[in-house]
Amino acid sequence: MLKTLLLGASILAITTAAQAATATRSDFGTAGGAKVEAVTLTNAAGMSARIMTLGATLQSLLVADKAGKKEDVVLGYDTAQEYLSRPNYFGASIGRYANRIAKGKFSLDGKAYTLETNDGPNSLHGGSKGFDKQMWKIESVSSGADARVVFSYVSADGEAGFPGELKVTATYSLNEQNELKLEYRATTSKPTVLNLTNHSYFNLSGNDARDVMGNLVTLHAEKFTPVDATLIPTGERKPVAGSPFDFRSAHRVGDRIRDARDAQIRYGRGYDHNFIVDGAPGTVRPAAMVEEPVSGRVLEVSVSAPGIQFYTGNFLDGTFFGKAGRSYRQGDSICLEPGVFPDAPNHPDFATARLNPGQSYLNTIVYKFSAK
Ligand code: GLA
Repeated sequence: MLKTLLLGASILAITTAAQAATATRSDFGTAGGAKVEAVTLTNAAGMSARIMTLGATLQSLLVADKAGKKEDVVLGYDTAQEYLSRPNYFGASIGRYANRIAKGKFSLDGKAYTLETNDGPNSLHGGSKGFDKQMWKIESVSSGADARVVFSYVSADGEAGFPGELKVTATYSLNEQNELKLEYRATTSKPTVLNLTNHSYFNLSGNDARDVMGNLVTLHAEKFTPVDATLIPTGERKPVAGSPFDFRSAHRVGDRIRDARDAQIRYGRGYDHNFIVDGAPGTVRPAAMVEEPVSGRVLEVSVSAPGIQFYTGNFLDGTFFGKAGRSYRQGDSICLEPGVFPDAPNHPDFATARLNPGQSYLNTIVYKFSAK
């Protein structure tokens, strides 16, 4: 009897172990002479995410199509060195401030701060040596009901022009529901501003087989924040109704992307805009859905952030050669970057980007995959 029980228990243990999501560490070459490591999270269904220490970057994401075929659904490079030398932010963790700060200037408690301007007149994604270019440390790796890796990075007081020493972690976890969850956390030694996010470029066709113009996109947003010609928000919150920005029900990306009668489409060279996610910021709620009709792959994005930047890779100009041996061009991918609104430090009526000592920052992003 005891023997049977023990046998039963060990079979159970084996089955659980076989079904558990696993995390494994490996070398991922070098970048700028420094060693890069990667962690691969794999669930029992075979979905797998590889994240490397350079930029805490999501380097590959294998997801099944409707026939069960697993292919890579994110743009990127084969080697860490290419991520360091080519400024696309493919899959990277962005900080200190994702998106733009007008003229690289803001003030906090009466003190003016100046940042590097690396995007025309503005500062973009924390400057030319943002968190995407930093080597993160692997804090912990674990397998189980979900597979998980925690990366950390300490940004020195004054780094890239921002006040306060910022201690940051990026947690990636993958569960059996095909949800890849990202949690960006931070604490600061002085009042500061921040906007941490992930900059994955999704192409659900798998191995970049097709562009994204036929993808069906839904954005749970009644309003978006229009921009000026340098992509800085004007301050307005504009209803999407009746415009090419209305994705409240699913629309093909390509249907209205060339509608040059709309100045916002002209400024963005297509879509490169922050949408105000319906519902209460701070609670994780649906923000976006992307459906790729041929492969059947579906991506649902849930966020805790007030906004999400919908960007169609408009600056990819065919000079970037990616993993599948393809050159990346405009419209080859969709980015969905959840965060506070662009240039929030200069818009007191936008949700605040401020973090005080003693407070903890958290930005939660869930990418859920399925196929139909
Ligand atoms: C964000 C911006 C875009 C572009 C990309 C990176 O999505 O909104 O304008 O700068 O990052 O190339």
